[in-house]
Amino acid sequence: MRKMNILAIESSCDETACAIVKDGTEVLSNIVATQIAEHRLYGGVVPEIASRRHAECIYQVAESALAEANCTLNDVDAIAVTYAPGLIGALLVGISFAKGLALSADIPLVPVHHIAGHIAANYISHPDLEPPYLCLVVSGGHSHIVEVLDRTRYRVVGRTHDDAAGECFDKVARTIGYEYPGGKFIDAAAKIGNPDAYKFPHPKVDGCEYDFSFSGLKTAVINLVHNSVQKGQSLVREDVAASFQRTVCEILVGKTMKAAEDLGYKKIALAGGVSANSGVRNSLAEACKKRGYDLYMPDLKYCGDNAAMIGCQGYYDYLAGKRADQTLNGIATLSLEKISEI
Ligand code: KG4
Ligand code: ZN
Repeated sequence: MRKMNILAIESSCDETACAIVKDGTEVLSNIVATQIAEHRLYGGVVPEIASRRHAECIYQVAESALAEANCTLNDVDAIAVTYAPGLIGALLVGISFAKGLALSADIPLVPVHHIAGHIAANYISHPDLEPPYLCLVVSGGHSHIVEVLDRTRYRVVGRTHDDAAGECFDKVARTIGYEYPGGKFIDAAAKIGNPDAYKFPHPKVDGCEYDFSFSGLKTAVINLVHNSVQKGQSLVREDVAASFQRTVCEILVGKTMKAAEDLGYKKIALAGGVSANSGVRNSLAEACKKRGYDLYMPDLKYCGDNAAMIGCQGYYDYLAGKRADQTLNGIATLSLEKISEI
């Protein structure tokens, strides 16, 4: 079969990213222009700023991706673009750019779901990974336990009722004085701190036993910090970070193992920005080893938002016949199950 090069575009949040991916899993280039420094001034992503920055740099990011892969548009067989979920203005920049390229170069356009892309990051790092498997997806905006039925169909068996795991990391980080996005600072601090220093609650969640709730845990940390300030007591923030991270790991790993056991999965994957967390990686690895499950995790460079994962998923979506035309629009919220019906 002829080799297939995909030019992939990702602009759903605060990274403008383009990649060239060959046959799904061979990453020829992967350029990510991050806006984090600018949003940090405001303690979180400012949607209007995100859209403007995407518009300013997308052309150059795409040019760099082509140059690094030693390609021109003539070598590109399809364009894959994230169309949902995400910040609508941010998504629209990538979508408009992708539509323009597809029209001018007369090549097919493939719409890709951002979370499906995060899951696909695992195929880049582990080309041997074959569905079905169970995937824990933990990012800044989503926390899901997903049955990956095949490369383009999913069943979400657990979801968060409030904050996403990454959001919780970032809010706790801010409470103990780390800059946005604080997940990686918590990760680093947790390596030094004492995970037994504080006992945080495991939230009770009504409904499905694989669902998550992180707002109670976040509030428990905020209350601990406020109480100690009021009493004039000092807290060792590394200890707070370590105790918090340990609790998050227990929740995430506990629910994933329960779902795997109940639903009969022995193949587990991890995806999303929080999959870079060393505590989550280690605890999941330990739990899987204990049960004899195979565990797949993306390389660290493919954990956060990037376009290589979109190019990878775009390839499988292309093979499954998914195409978009010039009417393609961004969708702020769209479940993985909804795209499985298409
Ligand atoms: O998947 P992602 O890059 O963007 C979304 O799609 O939301 O995830 C970003 C999230 C942020 O909340 C960030 O703090 C978190 O991933 N994150 C981490 C780590 N690296 C990134 N959280 C915990 N530990 C890390 N090492
Ligand atoms: Zn993401």
